[in-house]
Amino acid sequence: MNMRNYVRFEFPSLAENVSFARSCVGAFAAQMDCTLEEIEEIKLVVSEAVSNSIIHGYENQPYGKIVVMATLLDERIMEIIIEDQGVGIADINKAMEPSFSSNPDRMGLGFTFMKSFMDELEVESEPGAGTRIKLKRCFLVKDKEALA
Ligand SMILES: Nc1ncnc2c1ncn2[C@@H]1O[C@H](COP(=O)(O)OP(=O)(O)OP(=O)(O)O)[C@@H](O)[C@H]1O
Ligand SMILES: [Mg+2]
Repeated sequence: MNMRNYVRFEFPSLAENVSFARSCVGAFAAQMDCTLEEIEEIKLVVSEAVSNSIIHGYENQPYGKIVVMATLLDERIMEIIIEDQGVGIADINKAMEPSFSSNPDRMGLGFTFMKSFMDELEVESEPGAGTRIKLKRCFLVKDKEALA
């Protein structure tokens, strides 16, 4: 794989680890040539995906394993993978519909945010085996004059 740098870490399904994971990937993303706003967007999608693993994948039970891997494929492209070994998703297309939630108290917008802030979103999941979310974001070259 074409790769410049990566970070990979795992942690248990405890609510306090959502902010840990989002800050960690945000700090890693800061080495790219991107804006603070773009870093905030990366942090938001990481917290959505990690929250989903905790709330849905592990049904709020502690000590389920969550793995996060963030890779800089080159100076402009970042890939983020979030994996759990939780209950999995039976109908992925349904789960990704805006406003769909299996929990009546939730908004059902996590996947919608992931889709809108990232350029690619892939969901692999199997009931009983777990869920793997792959997100990719390409940062534009801002200083176009530098290319002229
Ligand atoms: N890691 C996961 N494991 C199992 N089910 C998941 C996982 N991630 C998402 N889902 C399923 O997909 C549905 C949609 O997820 P999404 O993040 O869009 O909405 P939500 O989590 O229900 O609500 P919100 O994100 O707005 O709080 C969830 O309600 C859940 O049924
Ligand atoms: Mg969600």
